Amino acid sequence: MDSPLKWVGSKRLLKRRICSLIPRDHDTYVEPFVGSGAVFFFKNSTRMGNEPKPSDLEVLNDVDALLVNFYRVLQDPTSFKKFLDRLDSTLVSRDLFMEYRASEWGTLAPIERAFRLYYVVKTSFGGLFRFNQEGKCNSPFASTPDKKARSFLFKREPLLAAHDRLKGVVLLDLDYAPVLDKYDSPNTFFYIDPPYETEYAYNKPFDHDVLARRCKHLKGRFLLSLDSSFTDHFTEFSIEKVHVNYSVTCKPGDNAWSEIIVRNY
Ligand SMILES: C[S@@+](CC[C@H](N)C(=O)[O-])C[C@H]1O[C@@H](n2cnc3c(N)ncnc32)[C@H](O)[C@@H]1O
Repeated sequence: MDSPLKWVGSKRLLKRRICSLIPRDHDTYVEPFVGSGAVFFFKNSTRMGNEPKPSDLEVLNDVDALLVNFYRVLQDPTSFKKFLDRLDSTLVSRDLFMEYRASEWGTLAPIERAFRLYYVVKTSFGGLFRFNQEGKCNSPFASTPDKKARSFLFKREPLLAAHDRLKGVVLLDLDYAPVLDKYDSPNTFFYIDPPYETEYAYNKPFDHDVLARRCKHLKGRFLLSLDSSFTDHFTEFSIEKVHVNYSVTCKPGDNAWSEIIVRNY
């Protein structure tokens, strides 16, 4: 199955390759940078053929609390029903898009916050939700959303499938470091997909040196994907270079570039 959301840095084009490299023998599966969860949602789907059933413990984390709130609303049966009701009673319009885009997100109740995030993602150009340096959402409205966007927005199947898949999953909105510490064990598998150089968490550049040092000390196995400019950080591990072509990316000006898949197994 696919993620119900598009997200900056999504691995939708690499998910098949990544999933084919995930070893079967682990009890705990952890994504410390889940984003849209392209790999998580695809990993145990029928499209991956003979993949085993989900791991005993699954942990999804992202420092973006707005995103994790969306997953929490999808996961909880009562909230999910209210979320679907809210979708059913809303039209697609530029005015609503502009109003929701300008939301004071922190002041909204969780279901409304999840609904507006989904609405803005589904009706924005390229289907992406992004903030400018001032912390304001600046996704542009899709100019011809009418029929197409309406059917996307109200399509229930991806949401119902995600609701089912998220049952029992631990959802966290923390920095990645304590998540690595807490769940690291020889039976843990980490899929690590940190931000690229140009992405910022709370307007702070991400420190890839610190992450690389932490990876060296993991007891569990990990697979990490990153822009190939970071190859030097991971030379002691197995590295595969892959070419990816994204139409909407976080990397300005260039739609095709290479990434690396790093593994400690
Ligand atoms: C490259 S994206 C992950 C994309 C994801 N694999 C997908 O398929 O959509 C990186 C994610 O890391 C999150 N992030 C950034 N800094 C973080 C941190 N310090 N700890 C945890 N998550 C962080 C961002 O919010 C973003 O969702």
